Amino acid sequence: METVRVNLREAARAYDISVGAGLLARAGAILREAVPPARRVALFSNPTVFARYGRQVAESLEQTGFTVLAWQMGDGERHKNWHTLERALDFLLAQKFERHDAVVALGGGVVGDLAGCAAALYLRGLPFAHIPTTLLAQIDASVGGKTAVNTKQGKNLIGVFHQPVAVIIDPGALATLPRREVTAGWCEAVKQGAAGDAGLFARTVDFLTQNGPLAFAHPQLAQLIAAQCAFKAEIVAGDEREDASRTDARSRRILNFGHTVGHALETVTRYRRFRHGEAVGYGMLAAGELSKRLALLNDFELESLQNATRVCGKLPRVADIPAEAVIKALAGDKKSVGGYVKWILLERLGRARIVDGREISPQILREALREALRLA
Ligand SMILES: NC(=O)c1ccc[n+]([C@@H]2O[C@H](COP(=O)([O-])OP(=O)(O)OC[C@H]3O[C@@H](n4cnc5c(N)ncnc54)[C@H](O)[C@@H]3O)[C@@H](O)[C@H]2O)c1
Ligand SMILES: [Zn+2]
Repeated sequence: METVRVNLREAARAYDISVGAGLLARAGAILREAVPPARRVALFSNPTVFARYGRQVAESLEQTGFTVLAWQMGDGERHKNWHTLERALDFLLAQKFERHDAVVALGGGVVGDLAGCAAALYLRGLPFAHIPTTLLAQIDASVGGKTAVNTKQGKNLIGVFHQPVAVIIDPGALATLPRREVTAGWCEAVKQGAAGDAGLFARTVDFLTQNGPLAFAHPQLAQLIAAQCAFKAEIVAGDEREDASRTDARSRRILNFGHTVGHALETVTRYRRFRHGEAVGYGMLAAGELSKRLALLNDFELESLQNATRVCGKLPRVADIPAEAVIKALAGDKKSVGGYVKWILLERLGRARIVDGREISPQILREALREALRLA
């Protein structure tokens, strides 16, 4: 088993991310160590995940003395909303959960974000643990303490920071993940390396090149996932609340590499064509092209980035989307500050540079987008 210790500014809130094959069956023992006095666990999931792994996790929790009360939400991003949050809180109220009880999220980022939000709000904060079952949630969404729900004005606009007491990751659970979710997760893994850690980038791409994207039983996968978590945890520890004034290469904002154009592509296609990570795949290519045109990134490194997105798996078509439509959608990006887009570009693989959108000529932007969408 790999363990990643996440140190936060307040030492008492430090927690472990445990990664290893077979950990679903050991969830009880790990959680028991994290929350010794807890009596009951609200196990939040959805029908897709619960049908596959719910019983195993519940049994493991019961073996270490927890009383498990399962609760399920609908499957899909559209269920990550106020209404579901209210239902979740009503469940905790009806079951009279107390301060020392715990909430556990078993599922992808949608379940994790919603369960974390409910855990943060209920009695101003219950102990909360993640058991992420998508690749994206294992390397990204379960690390960092962000929780959220969507509203009709946009995604993730309402939420709180609430750090977990434990994260329990079993790569074996990925075996049942739909292929597109796998590709989307790997794109975010490539993103983390490209934006902040050249060694992690190389390791991720080597793993994919040698084993393909579906090697979930590979003995080295747990180490790779742990390295991905350690990277994100390090960035988060240095900038826990994403300080908007920071523009340095270690600020949390670099994790949005590929997301500026990624979000625009999702908007232009009304969230119907891409899984989020797939759009980020194209977003990285666009940011890479832009970096090259601004003489930051060299040809060789851009090629490495292009190759990295290829080995993640096949991405949906994109050539029919006009660059102009993407540019129009960029203006509405929530991560823009004061109305201007902050681009996360690359000086080299593993080193991001945040560039104010006003410093980039519209023509260079258009050319970079055309090239990225054409090449795809
Ligand atoms: N909190 C954060 O820091 C953070 C970071 C990144 C993303 N997110 C959020 O995460 C969400 C996306 O998460 P996601 O990509 O995991 O999507 P998801 O939670 O919707 O899961 C994708 C699909 O896979 C299914 N699934 C999950 N595990 C499975 C398994 N092991 N086998 C078979 N099917 C399985 C789910 O039921 C769902 O249909 C978004 O809402 C995003 O905003 C949060
Ligand atoms: Zn993302």
